[in-house]
Formats: sequence, C-alpha cells, structure tokens
Amino acid sequence: MPGARLEQLAEIETAVWAELCAAVRDKGHPWRVGVLATVDGERADARNVVLRDIEAAARTLLIYTDARSAKARQAEHHPQGMLVLWSDPLGWQLRLRVHLMLQTSGLEVSSRWAQLKMSPAAHDYLSPLPPGSTLARPLPQRGSRGYFAVLSAEVWSVDWLELHADGHRRAIFDAKGPRWVTP
Ligand SMILES: Cc1cc2nc3c(=O)[nH]c(=O)nc-3n(C[C@H](O)[C@H](O)[C@H](O)COP(=O)(O)O)c2cc1C
Repeated sequence: MPGARLEQLAEIETAVWAELCAAVRDKGHPWRVGVLATVDGERADARNVVLRDIEAAARTLLIYTDARSAKARQAEHHPQGMLVLWSDPLGWQLRLRVHLMLQTSGLEVSSRWAQLKMSPAAHDYLSPLPPGSTLARPLPQRGSRGYFAVLSAEVWSVDWLELHADGHRRAIFDAKGPRWVTP
C-alpha cells in the first residue's frame, strides 16, 4: 500500500490487522519475521521469530518454538512480551505489547505438529539437546522426539509508528481506545 496515506485511526487499525494477516500467509512479507522481547528475571532478552499464524478475532499471533527454549521458560515465568515489526515498503513500525502463553500439548499443538513433522522445519524441534546447550561441534544427529510448542501472543496494545517524508505519525491502539501520540 505504499503511497496511500491513511487518515483515520479506525482505517489505520484495520490496515494494521490486514497486514498482520498477510504476513502469516506471505513468506516474503517484512512482518513475517519480528523481534520478540521477553523478560529473563531482571534482564531483557530478545530474538527473531517467524509469525506462523493469526487468530485475528482473538487478536492473537502464533509462533512455533522448542518447548525447552529460553523464551519458552521466560514466557511461562513472565508472560508479558513485546513484538517489534518493521516494514520498509509501508514505512510502519509496530510495537505489540503481547501476553504470551506456551502450549506444549492439546489438539492445537498436535494438529500443527502433524502438518510440520514431515517438513525440513521439523528439525528445529527434534534436537536431543535443549536450545543453547554448549556443544563441542555442531550436532550431527537428531533425536526421535519432538519438543514442538506453540507460543501464542495475544496483542494487548499496538504502538504504530509511520515514517514519512511529509511528517512522521504515531498512534496507540489499546483498551483505552485509539489515539494519536507524538512520534
Ligand atoms: C530469521 C529468523 C527466524 C527465527 N524464527 C524462530 C522461530 O519462529 N521460533 C524460534 O523458536 N526461533 C526462531 N529463530 C531462532 C531464534 O531467534 C533464537 O536464536 C532461538 O530460538 C533461541 O532463542 P531463545 O534462547 O531466546 O529461546 C529464528 C531466527 C532467525 C534468524
């Protein structure tokens, strides 16, 4: 949508969710990969993640991960996270305040694993050692059991920033209602 400058808060919010829906379908979408920040005790932590799916009515984004990963542990101890996305074509940054929930079993997880397990991406969840384990050399083998987990990120607030030659704009969409703020 480059060039079309939206004026109304309601249309901006609608466009943000439409782009998030596009991002989970289109592997080339700039919002397909974002930075998820979490709290690790008293320290910050952050890493890239892929947006795999969206439940737009529930304002929830789905991320796949290894159940033994640091982010999974952090999400269970401190479910507040921040997902940061940037699209150069749109000129839009999103800072999504999210509530994280780790799912390691149940129909949601097993049906997604059934789809994924025959694909090369399954290797990401089959390592015999947890992510971050110290290794003498890269792992040659894979284990037989999956540690696949779905990390759901319910969006509690959207901080939208548009960079534009005619002036930057910023708006917040949260429980207090949509409003313009200074960039
Ligand atoms: C482009 C890119 C996409 C990534 N997507 C994911 C992902 O969807 N899920 C995931 O668990 N790790 C993903 N990773 C790896 C994480 O960034 C991170 O290195 C790893 O999960 C360990 O993070 P943690 O120790 O904080 O849990 C991705 C890395 C890159 C570079």
